[in-house]
Amino acid sequence: MKVLITGGAGYIGSTVASACLDAGITPVILDNLVTGRREFTRDREFYEGDIADGALLDKIFAEHPDIGAAVHCAALIVVPDSVSDPVRYYQWNVAKSLEMLQHLIRNGCHRLLFSSSAAIYEASEGGSVDEDSPIVPLSPYGRTKAVCEGMFADIAAGTPLRVVSLRYFNPIGADPALRSGLQLRYPSHALGKLIQAHQAGEPFQITGTDYPTRDGSGIRDYVHVWDLAAAHVAALRRFDAVLGEATSAAINLGTGTGTTVRELVAAFNSVVAPPVTAVEAPRRPGDPAGAFTRSERARQLLGWEAAHSVADGIRDSLRWTAVRDSVLSASD
Ligand SMILES: NC(=O)c1ccc[n+]([C@@H]2O[C@H](COP(=O)([O-])OP(=O)(O)OC[C@H]3O[C@@H](n4cnc5c(N)ncnc54)[C@H](O)[C@@H]3O)[C@@H](O)[C@H]2O)c1
Repeated sequence: MKVLITGGAGYIGSTVASACLDAGITPVILDNLVTGRREFTRDREFYEGDIADGALLDKIFAEHPDIGAAVHCAALIVVPDSVSDPVRYYQWNVAKSLEMLQHLIRNGCHRLLFSSSAAIYEASEGGSVDEDSPIVPLSPYGRTKAVCEGMFADIAAGTPLRVVSLRYFNPIGADPALRSGLQLRYPSHALGKLIQAHQAGEPFQITGTDYPTRDGSGIRDYVHVWDLAAAHVAALRRFDAVLGEATSAAINLGTGTGTTVRELVAAFNSVVAPPVTAVEAPRRPGDPAGAFTRSERARQLLGWEAAHSVADGIRDSLRWTAVRDSVLSASD
């Protein structure tokens, strides 16, 4: 079987492509490299171009008529950019996705796995959510994901398309074989900041210590990107059974365990030496308390649960950071 992976030169898409390869599923990658890296497509079927380019999609399906499903990872993902340039985010994440969907349907590709996000949930009080929790995104980025989910579900209800939206929580780590990882040198999430503080020998700032969580710091559900990739393989294998008579479904992909920023610092310090010192700082504007999944749906429908711990994710992020510059030639 072959699978089309849009955004397959990005962090998550390239990891999904590696997991597919390891599972005997051939990935066919479509990516315009706006943030993706050509190095992550090496020795893989790769088409450089835009998801909205109908002629290119036709060419891909003509050359790979055995593509049985599409994994749609391509998107712009930087929350502050979506606030300052919302038109671009709706254009790229929503309008182009709609174009792409028409090209998929025209080419007879009726199975779609969509990269959705926990960012669509109402910023809870540092608690747990399941797939039926209120959808109230905080940012234009989050809203583009929610709009896409609704749009795809509507289209699936009236066409042969079937869609499973996978709502990722907070991916960390890298492909354990280090074929790919986060392409950014300076990621802005808490683990990225911890690694930078560790490398610079500087204190790490816990931004926000008055959230309504067990220790006052923000809470996230850190899921190893290799576990996420495994969930995609399971969803591809079970796609028809997952949906049954339904035309669309949504599944949370998290560990089910919340980790506060203070707990993340402790986990980080359990795998590095010397330890990073943490200092308390005010909240960053717009940062929610955070959430973790309480859902059993991934286990029930996909037979999947996260196999890696937060410490595993930290270790693989550090291993990737050490090789990043040699994998990404002439990188910025
Ligand atoms: N990283 C996270 O924390 C996270 C969390 C939840 C959901 N997601 C979702 O997962 C998906 C992948 O995210 P990521 O972290 O790998 O980001 P990424 O930026 O590494 O990957 C996105 C990829 O899509 C490509 N792309 C973007 N627009 C395109 C277009 N119009 N045509 C062709 N290619 C295009 C980029 O070049 C890039 O390779 C996104 O849909 C994102 O919303 C990510």
